[in-house]
Amino acid sequence: MQRVWVILGFLFAVGLLTAGVWSYGYRQALSQLSEKAEADLELAADRLSTQMQVYQELAVLMATHPVLRALETPVQQQAARAILLDVADKTSAVNMMYLDRSGQVLASAQPVEWPNMADHPAFRRALQGAMGSAHGVVESSGDRTYSYAAPAFSDAGQVEGVLIVVADVQDVEQTWRGSTEAVFFTDGDGVVFISNRSDLLFWHRDEGQLGLTPPDGGVVDFASVLVGPHEVWELNWGRYLPSRALHLMLDLPVIDMTAEVLVDVAPAQRLAGLQAATVAAICLAFGALLYLATERRRTLAEANTILESRVAQRTHALTAANTALRHEVREREDAEAALKHAQEELIQAGKLSALGQMSAGISHELNQPLMAIQQFADNGAAFLSRGRDEKASENLTRISAMAARMARIIKNLRAFSRNESEPMGKVNLVQVIDTAVELTEARLRTEDVRMDWAPPNNPVYAWGGEVRLVQVFVNLINNAADAMSGQDDRLIRIAIDRGDKLAVTVRDIGPGIENSEKLFEPFYTTKAVGTSEGMGLGLSISYGLVQSFGGNIRGANLDTGALFTVELEPFTEHEVA
Ligand SMILES: Nc1ncnc2c1ncn2[C@@H]1O[C@H](COP(=O)(O)OP(=O)(O)OP(=O)(O)O)[C@@H](O)[C@H]1O
Ligand SMILES: [Mg+2]
Repeated sequence: MQRVWVILGFLFAVGLLTAGVWSYGYRQALSQLSEKAEADLELAADRLSTQMQVYQELAVLMATHPVLRALETPVQQQAARAILLDVADKTSAVNMMYLDRSGQVLASAQPVEWPNMADHPAFRRALQGAMGSAHGVVESSGDRTYSYAAPAFSDAGQVEGVLIVVADVQDVEQTWRGSTEAVFFTDGDGVVFISNRSDLLFWHRDEGQLGLTPPDGGVVDFASVLVGPHEVWELNWGRYLPSRALHLMLDLPVIDMTAEVLVDVAPAQRLAGLQAATVAAICLAFGALLYLATERRRTLAEANTILESRVAQRTHALTAANTALRHEVREREDAEAALKHAQEELIQAGKLSALGQMSAGISHELNQPLMAIQQFADNGAAFLSRGRDEKASENLTRISAMAARMARIIKNLRAFSRNESEPMGKVNLVQVIDTAVELTEARLRTEDVRMDWAPPNNPVYAWGGEVRLVQVFVNLINNAADAMSGQDDRLIRIAIDRGDKLAVTVRDIGPGIENSEKLFEPFYTTKAVGTSEGMGLGLSISYGLVQSFGGNIRGANLDTGALFTVELEPFTEHEVA
């Protein structure tokens, strides 16, 4: 709605501007037209005056001609007539005549209608010694004439006669008939006497009026408008006159007439119209461009708003999704932590289960040195009482050694059973296997299992956690011992292969693996369920542990017995850095 008002306002402003430009342009054009018309008018007036002046001077000259002084005899009259005719012919005057003081025509170039012209206004003026002039219409022919009357003075300075020259106005008109502008001359009575538009002849201007009325008294359209200093006539005076014309006047006292011109203002109007149309067109084009530009801007702004709201919506949705995702991530992390916790508990359970399996052997292992210590202590006391100090001292040394051994076993057990997460790092594989062998030694001895483990002299470093690796190997040794429990000959062989990776092999001479596919599944066991042994967790826990060290564990059957391989990443100083 607001746009409609703006457009209407703009159109109104353009209309005002166009009208202003038209008005200004029209006045400018009228001024130019007026200058030209003035020049035209002056030219026409000059021509008329100049031509008339010829007759005036002719009258003055001829009035003093000697032939007109003596007109008594018919011969003299004849001679005067001949000269007058000759001069009239040469100057194309209508008639020339010489009159005496009473107005009686004494000699004339052409015969005259009235022999006495005492009433002629020009004659009367000349009688007073001045130059007389008059215009009129020849009744018989309807010709318009303009007459000059010059006095002829006697030697005494008295007016003794008058010479009248009659000129034909049509002849004069003839010379500017072709001129385009309508020019007319009105006499003192306001009657159009001379004009290059014959339609206008004898139209008259009534007293106090500006317009002209036709001779028959008919009514014609007329209006006069002032455009600035210019007088514009609106009229309907026949097809040879413009319907709208600039009117100019010029007084000609010499011939006692007023020259007037009517110039068509149509070209001025056309010019002003063209200027106004150009300005309007430019304004409208400019307005249209401006309108288009604003429309475009508005459309863009709208599109932008839509886009922004969409972006806001999307952002909102994304934020929501993001929050949901974070929530999910947190849940996952919680679940992971719970899983880890469960796994750690599982590992601990595995360790305790292994300890359970070994407990009989371990108690036996601890019991034996205890009893030996008791024996040595008793013997030592006896040796002391007998004064055999060196024997007593020997016994004490043995007791000390046994206590140290017991302490080592207990330390290993404590370390193994401790429930704490140790960091990953540099682990000496030889020492790990030593510990596992030591922990299971008691059981193996009780069950009469031979252990073939020759630790290398140099340490072998791998990536891992010490206690967890011990757990892996304890389980492998226990499994091997379990597998061989039903046979007489029992042997476990442990070796370290150093290649790209480190590989520890644990082999036995038992019946071999029953189902190698399910081997590492949790709760897969072939052992009696419900007993302390046979949870089916040992290998699955070991699998997880070895994987977490970046290693691998697999089992395979040999010709006799099973072979378990634990692969581990060798430790290099570079990796720590
Ligand atoms: N050296 C081996 N020879 C033959 N079979 C084996 C050997 N080691 C493991 N197995 C088989 O793999 C199964 C799974 O072993 P795993 O150590 O996971 O469980 P488990 O020893 O039965 O019980 P747990 O270790 O939880 O006390 C065993 O029950 C056994 O059938
Ligand atoms: Mg086991």
